[in-house]
Amino acid sequence: MLPTDSTKTLSFKRCIMEGGLVIVYERHDVMKAVKLSEKGVLQNRFGMFKHSDWIGKPFGSKIFSSRGGFIYLLAPTPELWTLVLSHRTQILYIADISFVVMYLEIVPGCVVLESGTGSGSLSTSLARAVAPNGQVYTFDFHEQRAASAREDFERTGLSSLVTVGVRDIQGDGFPDEFSARADSVFLDLPQPWLAIPSAAKVLQQDGVLCSFSPCIEQVQRSCEMLTSSFTDIRTFEILLQTYEVREGHLPSWQDGDGILASLKGCKKRPHPTNERGNSRPQTVLAR
Ligand SMILES: C[S@@+](CC[C@H](N)C(=O)[O-])C[C@H]1O[C@@H](n2cnc3c(N)ncnc32)[C@H](O)[C@@H]1O
Repeated sequence: MLPTDSTKTLSFKRCIMEGGLVIVYERHDVMKAVKLSEKGVLQNRFGMFKHSDWIGKPFGSKIFSSRGGFIYLLAPTPELWTLVLSHRTQILYIADISFVVMYLEIVPGCVVLESGTGSGSLSTSLARAVAPNGQVYTFDFHEQRAASAREDFERTGLSSLVTVGVRDIQGDGFPDEFSARADSVFLDLPQPWLAIPSAAKVLQQDGVLCSFSPCIEQVQRSCEMLTSSFTDIRTFEILLQTYEVREGHLPSWQDGDGILASLKGCKKRPHPTNERGNSRPQTVLAR
């Protein structure tokens, strides 16, 4: 769960509190974040729901309206936040985020540098990974995007874990004050190769860099640049495949066609991870 206060501790509260954030779930593809207020009301096609009725209920509760319609109140985890945040840019989704956080070896206490901030989708998971005493410094050259990201980190209670800076990282690099301080650096920039020399300077010995690019030409140029300062350079494409499972006929051992019949009820569903044109996002990791 995201922390629900502004201290650097992660909250393990399981109950909904006044002033807190909840994810209102109507359907798997209809969810939104709602900040609770004393007199707040949620009105949707299922009826009217008063925020005051939600206080003290555990996350996951099913809440009914007077008309008999219902919603679920879910905890604002980074996974759900990524699905409900306002898309100011293209964003990273769960498959890439999990891979990046794991391979960047991010653990509590780490110092992570990121650019660009974009919509803050990745930054939210980075913040949870470094909590309670680490720090994420994220930079975007677009002032309004940086300001909106700051507002979102306030809303999600992460502002003490994430610092948003306005800076042209491709042109000016990361600030000198971070020299040899970062455990990991993440780049999601149109010309990441321009930022790689600076990333090498801010990384500690054995630090890890990850660059995320939609086009193979960007990956190629990044890899060429990486060879001057990094040794173990690897490129990945992450594909997530979800399955829609339906109830169906169970095969018996005598029934030769049974397994085929039951598999027909299990359909592959494409996952909406790639919204960056025709080419597929690639992740380059280097140490
Ligand atoms: C695709 S978005 C990043 C999305 C982010 N990873 C997320 O998950 O929400 C790329 C961001 O890089 C920023 N950007 C582009 N060039 C930049 C530069 N030279 N310096 C800093 N930020 C830059 C853009 O303003 C944009 O917000």
